[in-house]
Amino acid sequence: MINKYFSICSWSFLFLFLSCNSQNIETAILSVIDMKVVSFFSLMTLQEKIGQLNQYSVGEEMTGPNQDNEDSKKRYQQLINGDVGSVLNLLGAENTRLLQEQVINNTRLKIPLIFAYDVIHGYKTIFPIPLGESCSWDLDIIEKTAKIAAKEAAASGVQWTFAPMVDISRDARWGRVMEGAGEDPFLGSKIADARIKGFQGNSLDEPFTIAACAKHFAGYGFVESGKDYNIVNVGKNTLMNVILPPFKQAANSNVATFMNAFNDIDGTPASANNFILRDLLKRDWNFDGVVVSDWNSIGEMVNHRTAKNLRSAAEQALIAGCDIDMEATAYVDHLDSLVKDNPDLLIHVDEAVKRVLKLKFELGLFEDPFRYCNIELEKETVGAKEHFELAEKAALNSIVLLKNSKNVLPLIEKKKIAVIGPLANDGDTPLGNWRGKGEQNSATSLVEGMKMVLKNNSINYTKGCELSIGNNNFFQELKINKTDRNGFKEAIELAKSSDVVVMALGEPAYMSGEGRSRADIGLPGLQLELLKEVYAVNKNIVLVLMNGRPMTLTWENEHIPAIIETWHLGSRAGIAIAKVLAGVHNPSGKLTMSFPKHVGQLPIYYNHKNTGRPTSGPNQVFYSHHTDIDNNPLYPFGYGLSYTSFDYSDITLSNDSLDFNSSIEASVDVTNTGGVDGAEIVQMYITDHFASVTLPNIELKGFKKIYLRKGETQTVSFVVDSDLLRFYNDSNNFISEAGSFSLKISTSSSTGDMKSFELYQ
Ligand code: BGC
Repeated sequence: MINKYFSICSWSFLFLFLSCNSQNIETAILSVIDMKVVSFFSLMTLQEKIGQLNQYSVGEEMTGPNQDNEDSKKRYQQLINGDVGSVLNLLGAENTRLLQEQVINNTRLKIPLIFAYDVIHGYKTIFPIPLGESCSWDLDIIEKTAKIAAKEAAASGVQWTFAPMVDISRDARWGRVMEGAGEDPFLGSKIADARIKGFQGNSLDEPFTIAACAKHFAGYGFVESGKDYNIVNVGKNTLMNVILPPFKQAANSNVATFMNAFNDIDGTPASANNFILRDLLKRDWNFDGVVVSDWNSIGEMVNHRTAKNLRSAAEQALIAGCDIDMEATAYVDHLDSLVKDNPDLLIHVDEAVKRVLKLKFELGLFEDPFRYCNIELEKETVGAKEHFELAEKAALNSIVLLKNSKNVLPLIEKKKIAVIGPLANDGDTPLGNWRGKGEQNSATSLVEGMKMVLKNNSINYTKGCELSIGNNNFFQELKINKTDRNGFKEAIELAKSSDVVVMALGEPAYMSGEGRSRADIGLPGLQLELLKEVYAVNKNIVLVLMNGRPMTLTWENEHIPAIIETWHLGSRAGIAIAKVLAGVHNPSGKLTMSFPKHVGQLPIYYNHKNTGRPTSGPNQVFYSHHTDIDNNPLYPFGYGLSYTSFDYSDITLSNDSLDFNSSIEASVDVTNTGGVDGAEIVQMYITDHFASVTLPNIELKGFKKIYLRKGETQTVSFVVDSDLLRFYNDSNNFISEAGSFSLKISTSSSTGDMKSFELYQ
């Protein structure tokens, strides 16, 4: 059957190829895949079709008929019956080959499985968590780390990653902010594009590429009170202008798949949301890839109480356009009877199946179901030395210097350095959550890194206190040490006898990520107390933060002279941080999420709207504010210091007006006025002074990362045209409106002077 099928395809391909000229070869090749899909599809029974829409998580027990419980026996049977189209979490060239063989050898149509996995910030070589890496604003590095992650995963039998997470979030309480690119839709869109290119290359035909997945569609980053899996209440304006742009970009960047979100959006669960799935994604954005549910998100519609039972949930999700059911067994258990009762549903099943087949053809799985299953190649590729070099480069670029008074940093000629803190000699925390196959404790710890880089200093370490107690893993709730102060004394003694104290504090790896929302986002456990006690005996402190979210650091910022945000930096964390401490690398990262002064300010973000009451008269209270804290964040979006200083000239505009067919250029001269070379992320923000809907006070509309030697000046220019000024209006039209605007080009969202221009009709 298969052979016959392929010969039909080859003849048709030849015909198409001969009948097209060079300009439309690309279109013809695409249509060949579509044609393969249609002809293959015509061979399928309803049961075989439904199998393609069912996805399970399986482990190594599936690679032989030795399943240890009834559930895995059942799943194995379903796999070899063709009732499963894709699996997640089975890894390794050998395992994936074994299971693929079972499926190919036992099923009538021999449709290969797709092997999927959450490759979020590296597979074996672990890069900075995505939020950290976004602070590099370096699209080239971001694309490269995704590419290496894809390469390692592909060599290990994986063809599909559930990344990038492109959820915008303004609430640091939400644990999953670590997986995203922060609070801004413009930067978030650029980063989404870079990550997708990195995973998928120019085409899934290219070696070592894997299918990417834009998730979680949509609104998951806006869960109420930052509490994971919570409901989402957003209006159309926020949905269209803030939440959806990175998803739209993902569709434009030809991402192969989308994943639903767990949440509802204003009353309709995302997994059965006709508006976002059918109307926007599949119709308006022309997305022709696959939509996969999130883990049991179809089943969870019963908990949302919009589906009476799993059968009804299956029907709703199918109609809305969710193609694959991950883990709910809703499709595999109910689609058959649903279609028999209502044959009109078949059209949706058929559409979903064609999408899945298309992905399998694009991945080249029909040609070679064992494409990535080669143990030798796996050994050579996974964890290759040069991948770790990239991990170090990405880590160096992700570090954000938050404070550096009294020239505490870099640590030049500091003879006695005390390194204190529960995370200082920890080789596990820097791997962060969602660390793929990154081995436990495999990151370079800060102490190790400092001993390598700051060789001429005496480096003495003591822990000070435990941060967590007992298990620290993906599945379990963390227990934080709140009572055991046994290590304090030694830490204080060490601090007393040292020239400078480097304190490594923050959150353990599993304090952010899925299911890890926090109500208090300060330093957990006894760490602030330890910091205060050390500070009482030695004020010369460098605070090295390792964490998966913005934190409240008000006391720290008031007292500690130097603070570095290092996130969870990945496999080479310790070396990268030590290089920054030593001044071997000049930090250049800039925050992509605002740090609040107090948790009560959340959600906090730079691109806020004006409101009807932005200010009041002197001494009056009737304006939009908290009475006990000002409206500003502690550290704003776009903020980050350097060991050098940059001077920005006044902005030059090539013209102070444009129309819908022209553009203007805005430029500044940026000069490195300090004592060392360094990189600067130059940011352009625009204000639309009056519009038919409320819009943010300022919005990022351009950025460039430049490298300047000391004393060097570079002109940085941005082109502004009417397209850049577009937004979704009340009728969901993406438009720009004539009127007055202003822009600034500056070093962060909170600084810089605005320059006006007009957009004429
Ligand atoms: C997460 C997804 C992830 C999936 C598969 C879910 O719990 O929300 O982001 O891709 O699990 O592991």
